[in-house]
Amino acid sequence: MSATQTITVPTPDAADKPQQPDISYHPDEAKFRARTARRLAEDPTLPQMPLPEGFPATVEGPIVWEAKDWTDESQWVYNLTDAQLQEIDQAIAHFESLGQPLGFVGRDTFPLPTLSAELKKLAEVLYSGRGFFVLREIPVDKYSRRELAILYAGISSHVGSGRGRQDATNAMLAHIKDLRVSHAHEKGATGNSAYTTDRQVFHSDIGDLIALLSIQTSASGGTSRLSSGGTVYNEIAKTRPDLIHVLKDNWKLDRFGGDPGYAERPVLYLTEGHAVIQYSRRQFTGYGEQQRSPNIPPITEAQAEALDMLHFLAEKHSLQLNFKKGDIQYINSMGLLHARDEFTDDEQHTRHLVRLWLRNNELAWKTPGPLEKTWQLLYSIPPEAQRFPLEPEIRRLANGSTK
Ligand SMILES: [Fe+2]
Repeated sequence: MSATQTITVPTPDAADKPQQPDISYHPDEAKFRARTARRLAEDPTLPQMPLPEGFPATVEGPIVWEAKDWTDESQWVYNLTDAQLQEIDQAIAHFESLGQPLGFVGRDTFPLPTLSAELKKLAEVLYSGRGFFVLREIPVDKYSRRELAILYAGISSHVGSGRGRQDATNAMLAHIKDLRVSHAHEKGATGNSAYTTDRQVFHSDIGDLIALLSIQTSASGGTSRLSSGGTVYNEIAKTRPDLIHVLKDNWKLDRFGGDPGYAERPVLYLTEGHAVIQYSRRQFTGYGEQQRSPNIPPITEAQAEALDMLHFLAEKHSLQLNFKKGDIQYINSMGLLHARDEFTDDEQHTRHLVRLWLRNNELAWKTPGPLEKTWQLLYSIPPEAQRFPLEPEIRRLANGSTK
């Protein structure tokens, strides 16, 4: 070695660091197919991999369905009668006569003498049947926002008496509406497709049950779509068992500036024979102003493929719901995935849904271990601490700021 030569010690190069795969919130089928082809070319044995121990070749039950299993909305729409609507009005008056804060709306304070038994049967459909139903229709225009909140929380308490918080400030109602103009000054207004007119791709909300009350519909678009997690599981287990391994292992969920920066848990769980797919694509790809945090580990190519596989299989088997003004849609979010199309509002038609998260403790599936802490936090808000925002707001952190 001459005196002029220098020895360079290899240093970690940015190019060697794992990079976030080429994947975004909006699924791109061509990229998905290309990624699958690339991965199978690298390892053609992937489809022959045995399933992880304890994971069955198929899951079964009424919640494992395909869109073609449903032919008519009368199969899932429950039409309220005039007598039942009168019961609801009497229950509102009864609750108001008690003079209690809204957090105390419940089965006892919102009595429904005959409708209660029907709602109990429908709750059984959520956990032991197809996993969804629509209650039609609440004459929403005749009520004040406060009365609507009482009515909505009251009816829903007969479906599931456990009520989940929507954010860290114990808001129990979340407004799903295009807030990009009205809340443009707040951070987070475009970091979640729920606050835009954009499409929301397949995902599941946290918690057991989701209720969505439509108080106004869009001028066009916004179709709700549901898909069975069990059906998606069965097809992946049959065609790509290697991706069942990927889905049941830990993933790094972006907490978008939280501390720590990310959480770790699986996307797929089994409980009491049910496949539970619990994820939101934006936690792995980012969305809008909330892009995947650069200082947290990227997802892997296998995870990127699995994310797209979940989406495209859910889409393939999905059922469209005709969601009308005055409808309440109830969904088992443990067993079903949901999505909505993009939409257009006009002055008379601004899509506005109000969401509750619920749980029926008597009927609930066993919460998978890694989700227990989250569920506990969600459903443990005492009545006096529950907040019912009657107007739209962006979900907040504990200090009151938006993300
Ligand atoms: Fe959702």
